[in-house]
Amino acid sequence: MSHIIIQGGGRLEGTLNVQGAKNSVLPILAATILHPGRTVLRGCPHLSDVEASIRILRHLGCTADWEGEELAVDASSISRWDIPDHLMREMRSSVVFLGAILARLGWAEMSYPGGCELGPRPIDLHLSSLRQLGADLREEGGCLRCTAQHMSGREIALSLPSVGATENAMLAACGAEGETVLVNAAREPEITDLQEFLRAMGCRVRGAGSSTICIQGRQPTHDAAYTVMPDRIAAATYLSAAAAAGGEVELRRVHHRHLSTVTAALHASGCQVSGGEGQIVLRSDGRLRSAGTIRTAPYPGFPTDAQAVLMAALLRAKGATVFVENIFENRYRHVDELCRMGADISVADRVAVVTGVRELYGAQVRCTDLRGGAALMVAGLAAQGTTRIGDIFHIQRGYEDPVGDLRQLGADITLEETP
Ligand code: EPZ
Repeated sequence: MSHIIIQGGGRLEGTLNVQGAKNSVLPILAATILHPGRTVLRGCPHLSDVEASIRILRHLGCTADWEGEELAVDASSISRWDIPDHLMREMRSSVVFLGAILARLGWAEMSYPGGCELGPRPIDLHLSSLRQLGADLREEGGCLRCTAQHMSGREIALSLPSVGATENAMLAACGAEGETVLVNAAREPEITDLQEFLRAMGCRVRGAGSSTICIQGRQPTHDAAYTVMPDRIAAATYLSAAAAAGGEVELRRVHHRHLSTVTAALHASGCQVSGGEGQIVLRSDGRLRSAGTIRTAPYPGFPTDAQAVLMAALLRAKGATVFVENIFENRYRHVDELCRMGADISVADRVAVVTGVRELYGAQVRCTDLRGGAALMVAGLAAQGTTRIGDIFHIQRGYEDPVGDLRQLGADITLEETP
């Protein structure tokens, strides 16, 4: 089992280019099967979740290959419409392929995506959206069997702005006759990136970024090349690391408006943060103060994916910060691991109160999930002594090269790989 080893206590200095966005490229990879031809993705991050999507595309009959730093997909000859259990279990968000497969082939079959570390991950909104478009979905023995020979566009109102359900409905609607209007759609930047990719292929989609998205289905598509947007959560992670350790860090290839609620919280905690065209600069003396109350919410609110890393940055802050996790039921699994490092955090249901301590201490810790693992890296950078992080496969799902990136910023961090 591989580990990440961090010698904490040093400041971070330097410049870093931010990787492409995991939560944008995953639905975009599903969307490539809408076009019976070639699409090229630039800025696609090398992540285990991307490799899992590539395996799904190849299983369906596509070719999907790295050409240098570009990922080329050719979906000319899709031969299958099923995603087998072992591929679904690799990545639960593969459910986003459902809408695209139905749009392209009219059939789809996949095992029911289970829950994950964050708690149950229902897909009722995904399924109700597809049924409203005319799909016949049957759930039998843990398997979803779907038929959608003739989908028709219509107005679909989502009871909550689910990111995945919005994406699945957008992709399915591309295969429906007429116009689909999604009401109460998610407004995340990743939704806008998916829209721009679809438009690059010739699909007619508008309104992403607002709560109402319109899709004109069954448009002719053509080959396209597209550059994936920067990962706002990776950016939030590295800013939190600099805030915790102290120093001066400049992030490039980042849209600062995509994480303005995160930079506002970091500013409130005493960091100096400035955002320019495509870059963010953060300066910190490493001694922060309470950021008040942080409530996670759908975009443009504070992103749930940044909750853990901001928490880690505030473990030594003066005063107490209150976190309210409003999106997922079980998103404090990193707390116990942080407390092993000397953190003072109390959790009651969706509320976590972080009371700053004078020092954190390196410890043996384990990743509980993707962003919880990133939080352990942030805390390790601020801790005295050595932190040894296990189960780092969680981190590798969403961060392309966290060790290399943090080393580039001056961190004393190494990857210990054991066969
Ligand atoms: C996406 O997950 C992201 N994943 C998550 O990032 C992110 O935390 C989440 O959006 C919220 O921003 C990807 O994009 C691959 P949701 P998703 O549907 O689509 C409930 C990370 O760390 N819900 O917006 O699954 C659900 O239980 C990951 O990168 C239903 O009840 O999120 C949750 O409480 C973690 N029924 C809430 O909505 C449904 O049919 C938000 O979920 C769907 C969702």
